[in-house]
Amino acid sequence: MAMVGQQKFIPPTVKPPHKQLPLPVLIYRLIRNPIEAWGQEFYHQPLVELQHGSRQTVFVLSSDLIHKVLVADSENFSKNPVDKRILAQALGNGILLAEGDEWRWQRRTAAPLFRHDVVMDCIPTMAAAADRLLESWKSDLDNAVRPIDHEMSLVTFDVIQETLLKGRNAFDGQLVAGNISRYLQPISWLVAYDFLRLPNWMPHPGMFKMQRSARILRQEVLNLVRSRKDDAERSEDLLAKLLSARDPETGKSMPESLVVDNLLTFLAAGHETTALALTWSLFLIASVPEWQQRIYEEVVNVAGDRPVSADMVNRLPQTQNVIKEALRLYPPASIVSRQAIASTEIGNIRIKKNAIVMMPIFIIHRHYGNWQDPEIFDPNRFAPENDVAREKFAFMPFGTGKRSCIGATFAMTEAQVILATLVRKVWFETTPATHPKPLLRVTLRPDKGLPLKIRFR
Ligand code: HEM
Repeated sequence: MAMVGQQKFIPPTVKPPHKQLPLPVLIYRLIRNPIEAWGQEFYHQPLVELQHGSRQTVFVLSSDLIHKVLVADSENFSKNPVDKRILAQALGNGILLAEGDEWRWQRRTAAPLFRHDVVMDCIPTMAAAADRLLESWKSDLDNAVRPIDHEMSLVTFDVIQETLLKGRNAFDGQLVAGNISRYLQPISWLVAYDFLRLPNWMPHPGMFKMQRSARILRQEVLNLVRSRKDDAERSEDLLAKLLSARDPETGKSMPESLVVDNLLTFLAAGHETTALALTWSLFLIASVPEWQQRIYEEVVNVAGDRPVSADMVNRLPQTQNVIKEALRLYPPASIVSRQAIASTEIGNIRIKKNAIVMMPIFIIHRHYGNWQDPEIFDPNRFAPENDVAREKFAFMPFGTGKRSCIGATFAMTEAQVILATLVRKVWFETTPATHPKPLLRVTLRPDKGLPLKIRFR
């Protein structure tokens, strides 16, 4: 972690290898932290092709090539089967993993809940969740150290329950968030096994814990689905939408297991990612007090002491730019990947059928062809005067194309409301134990959590 003159903060990252790694080292790094396996050339070239045995893997890093894979030629690519391998035990064939008509139906069913006006109606719930967190901190002594990553996970879990499930206590937040985290912990083993073409049943460290967490999560959600079946038609939330959805082809309702798949998908995709956006934002502003002060002044000017409301979110550009810069440096969903359905071309490279195409958002956001001084924290990159020249897909924390994040507006709004509400009341500082290194476990987390000192203003 280094300060280069005033305001030039270089946040911690991984050290990319200089030369191609021998296979055992590559596998070790894939298991330990996949972002440590990608070499320096990835940060400079538009495309990197790797061939291991008969497997072709292509890393696509420039804007025009990303556009080709995710937008222009998206019909030639399916989701990467490794996503299924690592997530299907818990998320089944829900919206994140489904393909074709099965996916389209699920996406159409959920879409009305993510319309702009519906998201704006969620703002009071988001602000109230942040206020409850502040309330819970009030009994702390000044300079108490809080596990911010954990606290953000609980607050965003509260929000997702209350908005998508219209009830604060539908689930035990600690239980669900804890099991999602335990499920994700050993996942790199499955990625490495996939790379080595080893079968799914082959034991790996943490396998039983992972299976147990998946069972607990699915049972929790199933209990809720069954308890709500009778009154679902009267309600307007996600569960009601899923229970009343009809397949356009057959007219049949969604099987119970698919309702569980989807509910769990939204709980998982909808809280952990936003919690990490907030966690990394708080780390960055605790490290660069000038930016923390700027956000504080902005929110006091716009909102005074009132709760942040829908008419205010567009008037908090500095807050928004800090969150965008946190999403750039530490994209919570750090990889989007696909598999080629048929042979095709990307750039001048021939892509074989079944080749894997990776778009590592973590690198795209730190690529020297896309950004000036990409390693430096600088929210001003997103100020309107600097925002125009950039390549279109140099910044893509929510993916792009038809499979892009359905919850992008929800997430940005929530992060803004919660960050503004917290910073208005509390001053955050790093401690000697605050040395977060980004660790990729499907989502990008601080490897040892994020302890921060808090002091009420
Ligand atoms: C900062 C927060 C978030 C980030 C960085 C993020 C990132 C992403 C990315 C990159 C994808 C695309 C995956 C792909 O193309 O393979 C995605 C998809 C998805 N996200 Fe998010 N997301 C966030 C918040 C949310 C929220 C709040 C929700 C719901 C409440 C959500 C629900 C989903 C779903 C359901 C999909 C799958 C969409 C589909 O395949 O049709 N996400 N997200």
